[in-house]
Amino acid sequence: MRNVTEENLTEAVLRQITAQDPRVQQVVTSLVRHLHAFIREVEPTEDEWFTAIDFLTRTGQKCDAQRQEFILLSDTLGVTMLVDAINHRLAEGVTETTVTGPFHAAALEMGNGAMIARGPEGQRGNHAVVRGRVLDVNHNPLAGVKVDVWQSDDDGFYDVQDENQPEMNLRAILTTDEHGEYWFRTVRPSSYPIPTDGPVGELLLATGRHPMRPAHIHFRLTHPHYKRLTTHVFVEGDEYLDSDAVFGVKDSLVVPFVLNEDRAKAAEYEFPGPFYEANFDFTLEASQ
Ligand code: BEZ
Ligand code: FE
Repeated sequence: MRNVTEENLTEAVLRQITAQDPRVQQVVTSLVRHLHAFIREVEPTEDEWFTAIDFLTRTGQKCDAQRQEFILLSDTLGVTMLVDAINHRLAEGVTETTVTGPFHAAALEMGNGAMIARGPEGQRGNHAVVRGRVLDVNHNPLAGVKVDVWQSDDDGFYDVQDENQPEMNLRAILTTDEHGEYWFRTVRPSSYPIPTDGPVGELLLATGRHPMRPAHIHFRLTHPHYKRLTTHVFVEGDEYLDSDAVFGVKDSLVVPFVLNEDRAKAAEYEFPGPFYEANFDFTLEASQ
């Protein structure tokens, strides 16, 4: 086609799309329609369009084996949570899902009661015991569920961001016992900023947004007969619960971390002083 105009350009592009795969046809057609509609609405100058291309180029250049700036972009634009919502329209009573984030990594299998804070944070206090049960939708306890846990320390850093923490710190893979129970000892996590030293940080700054995530512990539960669940447990009272930079908070995932000052109990857990207690039960949906 020649002599395309502002008016007929979108149709000209759409006519050239003749994919073999119907899903590719649908996705690319929709992409062109929405992208053209966006450009028609915004009417960027050529300089602005170059700035956009440069932003995406630098987003790609920021990625390596440790850093995924495109995922961070998707997270901060709310796209990750939208994809999560569309893909997890769960049955009544099943535990809600939320973002995975970039900090999941290999962890050691540990027994119930393990102390997963093995770095300097373990000496600073803020100790916590986290426990609960894993159930099916009929409230039956599920034994043998792998409970993969990962979290930041009480200063908001994951082991992979902090050379003072030992490898695989603040992470573990637990297994529920015959009562469906899991429990571990740790430190109470803190709120933290998502990485801001790249293009995503620039975008947050330019749009008047803060980079903070409310304090949370990540969980991924797996069992051969149940749907995999990836979620967080958030610390009640955190100041960022209503403005999470990646829109991951759900009321059902927020729990109190209650201070326990009982010395005998602390000694039982081998903690030097007062500690926090948090309880969270998970409900899994059977896979088809
Ligand atoms: C996290 O919770 O680990 C996380 C999630 C999304 C973006 C950055 C961090
Ligand atoms: Fe996190």
